[in-house]
Amino acid sequence: MGSLNETNPSLWVGTSEVTRFHELHGDLSTDVVVVGAGIAGLTTAALLKGDGARVVVVEAGRVAAGVTGYTTAKLTVLHGLVFDDLVEAFGEEGAREYADANVAGMATVADLAVRHGIDCDLERRPAYTYTTDAAMVDKVRAEVSAAQRLRLDATFTTETDLPYPVEAAIRVADQAQFHPRKYCIGLARAIDGAGSAVYEATRALSVDEEDGRCTVETDHGTITAGHVVQATHLPFSDSGGFFARTHPMRSYAISARLDGPVPQGMYLSVGTPSRSVRSARMDGEEVVILGGESHKVGQDPDTRERYAALEGWARREFPIRSIDYRWSAQDFMPVDHVPFVGQVSPASERVLVATGFKKWGMSNGSAAGVMLADRIAGRRNPFADFFDTNRANPRQSLKELVKENANVVKRFVGDRLRTETRSIADLAPGEAAVVVEGTERVAAYRDEAGAVHALSPVCTHMGCTVTWNTAETTWDCPCHGSRFNCDGEVIQGPAVKDLEPREVQA
Ligand code: FES
Repeated sequence: MGSLNETNPSLWVGTSEVTRFHELHGDLSTDVVVVGAGIAGLTTAALLKGDGARVVVVEAGRVAAGVTGYTTAKLTVLHGLVFDDLVEAFGEEGAREYADANVAGMATVADLAVRHGIDCDLERRPAYTYTTDAAMVDKVRAEVSAAQRLRLDATFTTETDLPYPVEAAIRVADQAQFHPRKYCIGLARAIDGAGSAVYEATRALSVDEEDGRCTVETDHGTITAGHVVQATHLPFSDSGGFFARTHPMRSYAISARLDGPVPQGMYLSVGTPSRSVRSARMDGEEVVILGGESHKVGQDPDTRERYAALEGWARREFPIRSIDYRWSAQDFMPVDHVPFVGQVSPASERVLVATGFKKWGMSNGSAAGVMLADRIAGRRNPFADFFDTNRANPRQSLKELVKENANVVKRFVGDRLRTETRSIADLAPGEAAVVVEGTERVAAYRDEAGAVHALSPVCTHMGCTVTWNTAETTWDCPCHGSRFNCDGEVIQGPAVKDLEPREVQA
């Protein structure tokens, strides 16, 4: 779902146009409906239209203004330290499929940008995963060895263009960075027209499949189609239980102008807190994007501290002239570290999903788009089985599954049993909390002007209690990551219904 974040817009949102594709008006019929106009959905739709299919994309917010518009937008196969672990879990063959799929995803971005004449600041850059901790050097060496066995152009180095020394790094040549929103807007323009269409401000509410035909009900009409692709971050119509096979993590980024050279490589550190570095362009000037500070969604007491920590590190390590954008995003981490791409459930052949990109959605999402388009077009895709939603998980991932779902149960039960002690009268301007009002719990926010926004604290997805995100002024669900603005409107699924309003005495 893509609702422009008015509190902390990203560099990508701030340096691209506000799109104005039409809302859907009434019912229609088409070949394929894609729900979600982020990189995975738009890639699928653009490829299918290229195959001659009629495609309709519906987006609850604006094109690429959800997660895709809030990433650091690195296009790389180097996803931290991943290959050594993948080899252990899936063998060399499985790890190679993961790597090759991501290489193919990167190539798809380059191909589609050329095919549709999209100027999206696409630039080739090396990618690095580095450590400043001598104790982690062997782990980096193991990653280099695993990556080389997978035939990646990977080398061990201690040379970077970061302004601080590193103990070790793996470097993979010929990766890329780009402006994800410019790219996605270009794709949306290429899709819209000649029998296909992109609809913004159109929220899908349900998906059904019956007798070889699919129906998508939206808040502006019903669409029937031969196939449906849910590319909504986490599927909202989730008969496959992906909410229990992934967990959401939130992280933060800033962009800054420097009084000094901007690093040209794309970097990610090992360990906690992780640090991400890349360059970008803003108003013709080169700037740096710095990221990190990951945590579970809805489980951080004061997210403003996350921006403060990131900014503090940035000012210590880089000659910062100005910080121009601050933003945060979240993504779903799959239990076995491999995204899910395929049928929403074994019983549903025509409703497809892609989810769990684990913060590497630019390459994983593009690769997923190719897999889904191939599947609908009846082409064999070499990576489809490895990413398949119905795959068996290795034993290690079952432990992860149990751990993450125990966390959800703890939040569901614990938050309901907790005795709230505060009342609305206790809230200062700008403050929010779940409070007691009579016999009822209320999610209350007193805005800077003193007005109180009162809501049910019960998430409309599966009933967990939402928590206040101080930095983004949103109510976030700690169970599966749904988010709502201060008036209760859904800004991020899997929930599709708003929080209920509550009448209170201010
Ligand atoms: Fe699932 Fe809130 S997102 S209960």
